[in-house]
Amino acid sequence: MSAAAPHAKGWSTLSVALHWTIVVLIVVQFIDHEWMVDLWRATRRAAPIDATTEAWGWVHIVAGSLILIATLARLLDRYAHGRPPYPAEEPTWASWLARITHGLIYAILILMPIAGLIAWFGMIGEAGEIHEFLWTPLLVLIGLHVIGALAQQFWFKTGVLKRIFVPGTV
Ligand code: HEM
Ligand code: HEM
Repeated sequence: MSAAAPHAKGWSTLSVALHWTIVVLIVVQFIDHEWMVDLWRATRRAAPIDATTEAWGWVHIVAGSLILIATLARLLDRYAHGRPPYPAEEPTWASWLARITHGLIYAILILMPIAGLIAWFGMIGEAGEIHEFLWTPLLVLIGLHVIGALAQQFWFKTGVLKRIFVPGTV
């Protein structure tokens, strides 16, 4: 079955669970990223690190790695089971905007943790800069995505919002 199989019966339970797991993990990254920056700077300068910074820094590394795994698992599941069709009620431009937004979100959720891992385990500053650079585009895309989801619900009046909460809803 292709990645865009139109006859998929809603999102799978795994896909819905991973969507919300990734949301929670991104909130965790939002909260802990300043500690990670402190840990990174102190480690590179061989400066002393307090226990709180170290603990939250490692939360960042673990949560970020889990985002990578969850995103890859989500894409595999999407490839195996397809995704529900884009609603016929919405205009074509809106479906294309959604496709592009989703594609870029997936790309950043893969590239960003890989750049972070390369920066940290290789102590490579350029990878850290790429990692940092991707944060703002990710936030903008998430903002666009959430506005899109709310527009689906209240403007185009499709049932798309329900299907990301209830597996099997088309
Ligand atoms: C999608 C997952 C991830 C997100 C959303 C994320 C987010 C962030 C953010 C917002 C910053 C602060 C950037 C700044 O203001 O300077 C940061 C810094 C950093 N993160 Fe992540 N991170 C993720 C995964 C990872 C992973 C898996 C690692 C692996 C060790 C990692 C390592 C780092 C490092 C080393 C820095 C400091 C880079 C610098 O300041 O140049 N991150 N991350
Ligand atoms: C960190 C925040 C979020 C990220 C990274 C994210 C990412 C994604 C991705 C990658 C998809 C899959 C699209 C596909 O494979 O075709 C998706 C679907 C979806 N998301 Fe999110 N999402 C986030 C937050 C939210 C929030 C807060 C809402 C609700 C207000 C939401 C509503 C939806 C809906 C309704 C779908 C299904 C779209 C459809 O069936 O056509 N998302 N999300």
